[in-house]
Formats: sequence, C-alpha cells, structure tokens
Amino acid sequence: MNGLDVIRKRRSIREYSEKPISDEVLHEILDAGMRGPSCVNARDWSFIVVKDKDTLNKMADANGSPAEPLRGANVGILACGDLKRSFKGAPDYWIIDVSIACQNIVLAAAELGIGSVWLGTYPQTERVEGQKKLFQLPDSVIPHSLIALGYPKNQEELSLGSRSEYEPSQVHFEKW
Ligand SMILES: Cc1cc2nc3c(=O)[nH]c(=O)nc-3n(C[C@H](O)[C@H](O)[C@H](O)COP(=O)(O)O)c2cc1C
Repeated sequence: MNGLDVIRKRRSIREYSEKPISDEVLHEILDAGMRGPSCVNARDWSFIVVKDKDTLNKMADANGSPAEPLRGANVGILACGDLKRSFKGAPDYWIIDVSIACQNIVLAAAELGIGSVWLGTYPQTERVEGQKKLFQLPDSVIPHSLIALGYPKNQEELSLGSRSEYEPSQVHFEKW
C-alpha cells in the first residue's frame, strides 16, 4: 500500500475483535509514532502502552463516555508530552509534536490492518487530570491523547472507501 492509500483508508474504528496485537506489531506502530517531525527535533513525547483490561477501563472512566471504545480495545496508548524534553524557547510546540506522533500511530495502524480511534484528552482539564492521577504522572508529563487499537470487528470498515473529504471551500489559492 502506498502512503496516500493509507491516508485514504484510515478512519476511526471503534469496535474490535478479540485477536491480540503482537508485541512486534505494536513496536512498529510506536516506532512510526516516534518518526514524526518535532520542533527542534525535541522528540518530546512519551507513551504509556496498556493491555490490561482493568486499566483500559480506568482510562475510559477518566475520559468520560466518548472514550467508550477503549473498553473493547486490545491495546490503549496514552500519548503524553514530556516537558523536560520540549523546546525551551517555545515549550507549547509539544502539543503539535505529540499530535503528529498520534497521527503517525493511527496511520501505521491502518497500514497494518489495525483499527484505531483517537480519543481527545488535552486540553480538557478533567480528562488530563484524570489520566495524570491514574498513572501517577510527574508534573512534567502531560497527557495529550488516548488511542484505542484493535483488529476491526468488521474488517470491511478498514478498506478504501468512497467517502470524499475534499472541501474546495476550505482551500484558498494565492489570497483569502
Ligand atoms: C483530537 C481528537 C479527539 C477525538 N476524540 C474522540 C473521542 O473522544 N471519541 C471518539 O469516539 N472519537 C474521537 N475522535 C475521532 C473523531 O470523531 C473522528 O476522527 C472524526 O469523526 C472523523 O472520522 P474518521 O476518523 O473516521 O475520519 C477524535 C479525533 C481527534 C483528532
């Protein structure tokens, strides 16, 4: 599959089969996350990888009802910013760096036939605080997003669809 096909194929998958994701495949997904660009190459991300069902449920509890897909996921990833590593001149770039890592993760998952859904956490204070408390994170580590992963219950969901997302009204050439 070429890169554009993966971009076209990816969509949020919220129901998963029981088939486990191997550690090798998980490593590939995380490796893709860490290959994204980051401001001054700070690589100011950090990931908590969870397979334990009880912990997945607690992560879902901390994020509220939009994070329900996590309960049936094989693996949940909490992507965090690691402020000790971020660009001192403008630390807020961590938010962009971690977003890119998350996008690489969901694209790599799609390439490998794994469904994923991105579950927003930052900047919603309650969710951020909930995940911080759950994982006892140091102050320098900020929860950014959860990503639920699993082989799709319905494999057809992860195929090149007919959905067109191009919106000409949102593109301006040369001037606004
Ligand atoms: C920052 C962010 C937060 C999101 N939060 C949630 C969420 O809490 N629950 C959920 O089911 N989907 C969540 N999504 C997935 C979006 O709903 C989804 O990407 C969007 O509806 C487009 O659908 P698609 O991913 O299938 O293209 C989130 C996506 C992003 C980028």
